[in-house]
Amino acid sequence: MNDPKIIIALDYPAAAPALALADRLQPALCRLKVGKELFTAAGPKLIEQLQQRGFEIFLDLKFHDIPNTAAQACKVAASLGVWMVNVHALGGRKMLEAAHEAIASSAQRPKLIAVTMLTSMAQGDLADIGINATPAEMVLRLAKLARECGLDGVVCSAQEAALLRRECGDGFCLVTPGIRPAQASLAGKLLAGHPDDQSRVMTPLAALQAGASYLVIGRPITRAANPLQALLDINKEIGEQA
Ligand code: C5P
Repeated sequence: MNDPKIIIALDYPAAAPALALADRLQPALCRLKVGKELFTAAGPKLIEQLQQRGFEIFLDLKFHDIPNTAAQACKVAASLGVWMVNVHALGGRKMLEAAHEAIASSAQRPKLIAVTMLTSMAQGDLADIGINATPAEMVLRLAKLARECGLDGVVCSAQEAALLRRECGDGFCLVTPGIRPAQASLAGKLLAGHPDDQSRVMTPLAALQAGASYLVIGRPITRAANPLQALLDINKEIGEQA
């Protein structure tokens, strides 16, 4: 089966613009990510509407709770038929194991991945919450914990992909946001008037070469004048068959 590498982040406050964008894309070329904003606004019905259009969905709700609650949330996500769902690795071993266990027997088991550390957190933010390790040490530690607990992979920055690929093996799924296309015209123009808030960015090809399995891309596609063309250009850059 076709396994598109690009996951497009539908960061919208309502169903209508998300569906309008989906209608300009093609399910053979990408998957779609529904996060907290859109899911809070539009819920499971939107997931169903996107699936009816043929798209596979990454439900990015980053569950982080006591083991039973996080596990039940994963189970419900699995029942929605999503392709991928995630939890916070900081929820700890028991929560990760419970989440893994909860979906193990699902008819359509989603890939279960963990957020290691939010990329918005730097060394000082870790110190604030009493963690003395460096961000890189934390990411590696949490990725290994997620793997031990049976999870399929982690969300990580492309900068961390090479290290995690080496340490966690070939089968481990690495999902990387913070991707900006190589063509300066695309990257610059699309975010004109909106300062780019991603600081540690990598091009799609470089991220895949560093070991990323899937690339989460939002605004470079969603804000393009022609989102399908932007997607085709990126797929071409990474050598994906259209
Ligand atoms: O528009 P852009 O390409 O920056 O979108 C990136 C997407 O990836 C957003 O949905 C953002 O919330 C998500 N993300 C991120 N960094 C993380 C985890 C998720 O940018 N560490």
